[in-house]
Amino acid sequence: SRIDKFVLPLAIPAAMPRSGPNAYRIAAREHMQQILPPPFRPTRVWSYGPEGDPARFVSPACTIEATRGTPVEVTWINDLVGPDRRFRPHLLPVDPTLHWANPGGRRDTRPTFDKTPGPYTGPVPLVPHVHGMAEVEDWSDGYPEAWVLPDAADLPEGFAPVGTWYDFFWTKAGGGDWGPGRMTFRYPNSQRPSTLWFHDHTLGITRLNVYAGLAGFWLIRSDDPADHPTVAGSGAAAVLPADTHDIPLAIQDRAFNTDGSLYYPDSRKLFDDYAGPYIPASAVPPIWVPEFFGDCMVVNGRTWPYCTVEARRYRLRILNACNSRVLVLRFADPAVEVWQIGSEGGYLVAPVKLRDVVLAPAERADLVVDFSRVAPGARVVLRNRGPDAPYKGDAEDDEARADPRSTGQVMQFRVVRPTSPDPTTPPARLVMPAIAPLAAGRERALALVEAMTPSGKDEVPHEVALATFDPARGRPDGVTVTHWGDPISENPAPGDTETWAFHNFTADAHPMHVHDVLFQVVDRQELDEKNGRPKGRARPPRPEETGWKDTVIAPPGQVTRVRMRFAKAGRFVWHCHMVEHEDNEMMRPFRVGPEQD
Ligand code: C2O
Ligand code: CU
Repeated sequence: SRIDKFVLPLAIPAAMPRSGPNAYRIAAREHMQQILPPPFRPTRVWSYGPEGDPARFVSPACTIEATRGTPVEVTWINDLVGPDRRFRPHLLPVDPTLHWANPGGRRDTRPTFDKTPGPYTGPVPLVPHVHGMAEVEDWSDGYPEAWVLPDAADLPEGFAPVGTWYDFFWTKAGGGDWGPGRMTFRYPNSQRPSTLWFHDHTLGITRLNVYAGLAGFWLIRSDDPADHPTVAGSGAAAVLPADTHDIPLAIQDRAFNTDGSLYYPDSRKLFDDYAGPYIPASAVPPIWVPEFFGDCMVVNGRTWPYCTVEARRYRLRILNACNSRVLVLRFADPAVEVWQIGSEGGYLVAPVKLRDVVLAPAERADLVVDFSRVAPGARVVLRNRGPDAPYKGDAEDDEARADPRSTGQVMQFRVVRPTSPDPTTPPARLVMPAIAPLAAGRERALALVEAMTPSGKDEVPHEVALATFDPARGRPDGVTVTHWGDPISENPAPGDTETWAFHNFTADAHPMHVHDVLFQVVDRQELDEKNGRPKGRARPPRPEETGWKDTVIAPPGQVTRVRMRFAKAGRFVWHCHMVEHEDNEMMRPFRVGPEQD
């Protein structure tokens, strides 16, 4: 059954209600949401919402509206229980053979690779992470093994209520509401005004928990004019589209069963000739799939919505919240002018006029979109030209384009006559707050590789993994594959500036993300096919990568260098943000400062 497009109006998340001054109590719960247009029935999803207000549960969640310099405290509650307080099992097939949170196997977390394991059906562990929050203490960052189970009446005998690293972080917390099923994190909001998001980060099931709906926006605003652009020539404060003209858009690809329920593949059931709703890249037993490409586009929790806009400028803050899909966005009508003014860490050094907006999972683009040249009455589709497959790193060349009938369309803008003159500054005239380039420090050579899973069994297919790399020795001798459980290999001191060089030896692009810092993209360089050493001239980042970022596309066959300053001591993670990869060993802990564990 086909799904009609542009039937549902775009939902714009409301502000998350507070529980006190600068405090929130946010639960994760199961609920029904009309994601598909009628006659499809509502979809069972998970989302975050204000603990005391069941009507405010929606996916993506209500937006946290934060102010630079004002810290907030959030008590996060795993409330995945039914009305009888019995735990709710996962909506989606959990692969118990990955190295995952595994509450029932605290003493044996090693993959077993049983020939026919079924999905895990026990209570679901959760730990939230605010993506892009810099200078947060490690105990508030949401370490993948510091999860909690819900405070359910029927926790099975012998199950661990918390993850193996929970006590380590909890003892550092010193206050706040911690107890069964909940923990209280503190966020500094110390960085420049920017578009952040929060989502679940539990080891080995992040892909499923985020796909089920556990995500929301976290906006940091600032009252300080020095944090905002001025107008070229006059130096006056620039006016950007605000309030109803400032819209966050979380784009996700999803697949559904005909009864409206979410579909996520279980590779035990996939075949080569499988025809949707999932677009298989490949099927890997027993359950985990290496990438996910749904055949429906969902924006702010509704499939292919429409949004009525005046013929004027809008600020659109676009988040790629897909599991694996790289988006290459373009308005169907060239009369729509697109300027990128910011990325993950706030304003760019200068506005960039763009035709295509390329966003890998977790990247954000802060856009000023000008509809003023579009005739009122016109309907403009935001298209996607990114592939229904892993991205190869070049928006022009990617051969497997999105299907123009489905994933090639994202949403529709219905342009109407403006109700008042547009007071906003033309993007070309914006002068951005300056960004001082970081001075070079130590360079760490890291690598992204295809490798065997740690079981060593040959029926187990390859995974992608992270590695350290010694360019002097080259490939293969200089590559040391590192798994999640291996000792820390990246250990800068507080205050150190380092350049991390991601040598991508795989066939696809990977979006690389580092917690607790924002980085500057330094350059990219070709890699020698034989020895893996960088060769030829290094190329500067794209203009839209010249701000602070927290996620960067590392194209195949290239080294991508980013530079960052590590401030807070503690234990954090860096990983690929294709969440299927992150869940299967493409994530590593790192430590700032001396080991305490
Ligand atoms: Cu958006 Cu480590 O995550
Ligand atoms: Cu990856």
